[in-house]
Amino acid sequence: MKKRVIVTGGAGYIGSHTVIELVNAGCTPIVMDNFSNSTKEVLVGLHGILGFEPEVEEVDCADRSALLAAFERIAEDGSIDGIIHFAAFKAVGESTQLPLKYYANNIASTVNILEAAQQHGTTEVVFSSSCTVYGQPEAIPVDESAPMPSAESPYGYTKQACERIITDFAASGYPLKAALLRYFNPIGAHSSSLIGELPLNHPNNLVPYLTQAVAMLRDPLTVFGDDYPTPDGTCIRDYIHVMDLAKAHVAALDWLGKQSTACEAFNLGTGEGNSVLEVIQAFERATGVTVPHRIGPRRAGDVTAIFADASKARRELGWSCNFSLEEALRDAWNWQQALGA
Ligand code: UFG
Repeated sequence: MKKRVIVTGGAGYIGSHTVIELVNAGCTPIVMDNFSNSTKEVLVGLHGILGFEPEVEEVDCADRSALLAAFERIAEDGSIDGIIHFAAFKAVGESTQLPLKYYANNIASTVNILEAAQQHGTTEVVFSSSCTVYGQPEAIPVDESAPMPSAESPYGYTKQACERIITDFAASGYPLKAALLRYFNPIGAHSSSLIGELPLNHPNNLVPYLTQAVAMLRDPLTVFGDDYPTPDGTCIRDYIHVMDLAKAHVAALDWLGKQSTACEAFNLGTGEGNSVLEVIQAFERATGVTVPHRIGPRRAGDVTAIFADASKARRELGWSCNFSLEEALRDAWNWQQALGA
């Protein structure tokens, strides 16, 4: 597959790992990022892994005229065969405090990307969605046909809304082919430890907080609630290695190339659920290091248990996960240690 692909948010956590897999697959990624929640150090890491720095357009995707101008510049050097649209704000809690920030950025970016795609005849779009679209699922594992309840956060609503916007555009007559990728919980880092997850502020997610707590950069980890109706009382999630997730984007692009029309959602998870306490135990097994932690109150808005039925992605995209939870946690810890070096 030799496609020229724009990767919005390509300097971010999942975006940067996907850039590597695109190059491995023979594609030419063009990173489009405004570095609002990432740093240019990521480009140094990518250079270390790839042996070259990918092309970068520094632009805010929510700025329509700047975005269209960037597409014009990129199109001067050749066709734009696909777009993987990661760029978005993603902090669930912050979105409840600053909903307009989330609506303005996440929704405008998606609309602008689709307009740019239309202007340049780009028909293949991969969208970065989330299992948050399912809310508290009625049954687990959850498959793509599960109902989408009213979103519990403005962030979650932007994912539902953008899926709808893309679906409507695909039905409008423009020959768009789209894959809506619903991520479960991405963790881990590239095995080189040259790139990984880099929360710029207080980490909200479990694994970056855990590794920072183990590195004594933070207070001990608080397990948010142990009175949920699960076997050990802590919440259950589907933790997927970010490199497995990155490969799914390449598989999705490949699949889009073979379709005449498409607008399909795919769950991207391992298919296995693990509780917070199981993650702590797996981390200790994988690294031999103890996780300082204590049990605290529940966090508002957390769903009790969710994990993926990822059989559609396996069947249609020919994709499945290779890494175990232990391997993902080992890579997350190696990355944390490399950051401190
Ligand atoms: N948790 C803790 N302590 C922490 C952080 C998290 O116990 O310090 C627990 C949470 O309560 C939850 C689990 O670890 O049970 C995972 O929490 P994360 O914040 O890492 O992930 P979430 O499942 O809450 O959120 C993720 C994505 C969101 C997305 C959501 C969809 O980060 O973008 O999945 O369910 F919206």
